[in-house]
Amino acid sequence: MTSQEILEKYLARYKKHGHKEIPNMNLVPEGDSTLLFVNSGMFPLVPYLSGESHPLGKRLVNVQRSVRFSDIDEVGDNRHTTAFHMMGNWSLGDYFKAEQLPWIYHYFIEDLGLDSHRLYATVFEGDEYAPKDTESIEIIKKVFNQYGIDAKEGVRIFAYGRNDNWWQRADAPGELGGPSSEMFYYLGKDGNGEGKDPSQFQNEFLEIGNNVFMQYRKNDLKGWDELPQKNVDFGGGLERIALVVQKKHDIFETDNFYPIIQKLEELTGNKYLQDEDVTRAMRIIADHMRAATFLAMDGVVPSNKDQGYILRRYLRRMVRFARKLNINNNLAALLVPTIAQMLVWLYPDLAKKQEGITQLFIEEEERFHNALAKGETELRRQLQRIDTNNATALVELAFRLYQSYGYPPEFFMEEMQEQNLTANSKQFMQQYQHFVTRHQETSRKGAEQKFKGGLADHTEQVVRYHTATHLLHMALRQILGKHVEQYGSNITKDRLRFDFSHADKLNEDQIKQVESIINEAIKQKLPVNFVMLSKEEAGKSGALHFFKDKYGEQVKVYYIGNSLETAVSKEYCGGPHVKNLSELSPTLTIFKQESVGKGVRRVYARLR
Ligand code: ALA
Repeated sequence: MTSQEILEKYLARYKKHGHKEIPNMNLVPEGDSTLLFVNSGMFPLVPYLSGESHPLGKRLVNVQRSVRFSDIDEVGDNRHTTAFHMMGNWSLGDYFKAEQLPWIYHYFIEDLGLDSHRLYATVFEGDEYAPKDTESIEIIKKVFNQYGIDAKEGVRIFAYGRNDNWWQRADAPGELGGPSSEMFYYLGKDGNGEGKDPSQFQNEFLEIGNNVFMQYRKNDLKGWDELPQKNVDFGGGLERIALVVQKKHDIFETDNFYPIIQKLEELTGNKYLQDEDVTRAMRIIADHMRAATFLAMDGVVPSNKDQGYILRRYLRRMVRFARKLNINNNLAALLVPTIAQMLVWLYPDLAKKQEGITQLFIEEEERFHNALAKGETELRRQLQRIDTNNATALVELAFRLYQSYGYPPEFFMEEMQEQNLTANSKQFMQQYQHFVTRHQETSRKGAEQKFKGGLADHTEQVVRYHTATHLLHMALRQILGKHVEQYGSNITKDRLRFDFSHADKLNEDQIKQVESIINEAIKQKLPVNFVMLSKEEAGKSGALHFFKDKYGEQVKVYYIGNSLETAVSKEYCGGPHVKNLSELSPTLTIFKQESVGKGVRRVYARLR
């Protein structure tokens, strides 16, 4: 069974249970998010899991490309990847455990033909915030019973703590979370694995699904409050599910990766699995190349910032591992077409885009090869000068090369080993390790920082700023003209930031006028409401929408004013918003502006 069939069967089953399919969206979050990449299917659904109504109803299903760059160090074994496809289904305060658990087990067993004897379940064991999930245990027991299996706790169902059986997207106040029930498949050779505890035999079990019973929200005191509604958030990695369905022992042998591996074999004359180094290098290249292709497909270009920086790191790391396989140039040109062909069933656009992506990667690879060449020349020059027995001097050199040329520490290390320099001494190794750890910590901190704010932070302040953004958009169009369109927005609890199309700096008078339109509306205490409209009606209503179709046929339009017809602002938007502008009082002030590229301006504003 192909991955395409696995996905089709999943969508079909959940559609039969009344679910509507939502789109597989761009990896770069839109609007007010501080997360670098969409990292799960539930990502765009936070407002709806918190109680907002979704245009397509309470039962949703989809497949979502996702990137978890923080897992990069784990790539190289038989199961970890940084980019993957999550098949997901959601109940927004509708059905709960009694429906979800049987449905998903039936999908795995009936639709995909998995061996029920090799399936295992885990549940949350309970702590001071939430009780043990005995309800799920009972339901899972009944499901297994249908297949003649007596699913005892400690034999087929295991209860674990917060580390294993609690899921939350990130850790900021406002994040949603809940106990989860994971599904494991036994891959080992010991019968069906009966009685083995998956947490003790991790290599023999593979997690293939996660049912999160999302019913809590993190509060400012680090505790959890119950949400007004009980949700289901299921996620299952398509690539991992393909591994078990296609009876492989390795995710890279499934139809999601194997064509890349074969291409690498062909290019290098090496055999996949011939030895550890070759296997690891091929896996890393396959993962990174696929991830990089997704990023480029979604409009990311290599740079020194944010998403662009991650793309750059993917490509550079790939070059490093390609060198280990003796491929010294144009890896992208060789692999992008293979990836496009492999995934065209899911991303028909890739056929068109592959050429542009290849070109982009070739340029980046060339730049990197140049940086490497410069770094290497300088390295040789310096090695003539410094005392190569002095570990400190060598480590300092590594650091300087990294800072001046972006010459990666790993390359330095390899060079030292090749030249048989102090690199083998204990002292060098210790100092060097120190340097690498410091370097990694700095880059990791940058990434973690991004995970802290979070789209899910629907605290009162963020909601107020979200409504203020709509007002600002409206007022800018009124004063500057209809060419003003939103490019992006970013909200923290202290201010809003808004990017829009406009070439010139705003003069003081324009700023005053914009502020006064907004503050007048606030003074009038206009109500804020939404309606659900068909796309056609929404178009006719004149509501603003600048992002690609996100919500299928029905759209949600937020309007500010007493009726849709007389509203001062109308926008397609998921929400949430304040109920009345009086909640924004007394005033909004624009306190800063700048240019962020040709024809794009950015303003910052504060509510006080
Ligand atoms: N959101 C859950 C996860 O990512 C399903 O595991």
